[in-house]
Amino acid sequence: MLTQDQLKLAVAKKALEFVPDDCIIGVGTGSTVNLFIEELATIKGRIRGAVSSSEASTARLKAHHIPVYDLNEVDQLPVYVDGADEINHYLHMIKGGGAALTREKIIASVAQQFVCITDESKYVTMLGHFPLPIEVIPMARSYVARELVRLGGHPELRQGVVTDNGNLILDVHGLEIQKPVELEEAINHLVGVVTCGLFARRRADVLLLGRQSGVEVIR
Ligand code: 5RP
Repeated sequence: MLTQDQLKLAVAKKALEFVPDDCIIGVGTGSTVNLFIEELATIKGRIRGAVSSSEASTARLKAHHIPVYDLNEVDQLPVYVDGADEINHYLHMIKGGGAALTREKIIASVAQQFVCITDESKYVTMLGHFPLPIEVIPMARSYVARELVRLGGHPELRQGVVTDNGNLILDVHGLEIQKPVELEEAINHLVGVVTCGLFARRRADVLLLGRQSGVEVIR
């Protein structure tokens, strides 16, 4: 029986197969990505560098002497590798458990291919058991929370967390997300929301799913 960490390591290793030579790649955030960064360090000579979705990942990349670029300096990003908190069979995701959702969504939008790396505990038929993270401008926190209640959720302020962009995170409990694209658009239209952790309009292109039986590649 493989542990969750061993499953994460298996998908982190597999993701190297999706990294083209001589390019800059997008790197996400979280414990699975931390393992991916360790693997990336072993082949760093064949990439030019990375664009990072968080200060935490940037520090890890720099510790391995992998050059980190500002996204504005980069016009081509062939691949973005990141984890997820939940992913459904259409490869729509909930992300933001690590509070990095906005930068993650920006990099994902630029990337040609989003490779999601997760263990099988994250693979679900319906999104919403994991509370949906939403990054909000601080002065809009209460207004956005009231609007989220109208949408059927139970928002909770993530205590003690300020995002890399200086904002707050509301975690919305109790949502059964039947229409991820529509809900993502509805939440993103609320004034004061920076972005929500639903990645449905820009879903993953490939899921590397760590199973007891091996890494499954799902497209
Ligand atoms: C961070 C994220 C992460 O991808 C997500 O939380 C999964 O993390 P982990 O690999 O630690 O399970 O969205 O904002």
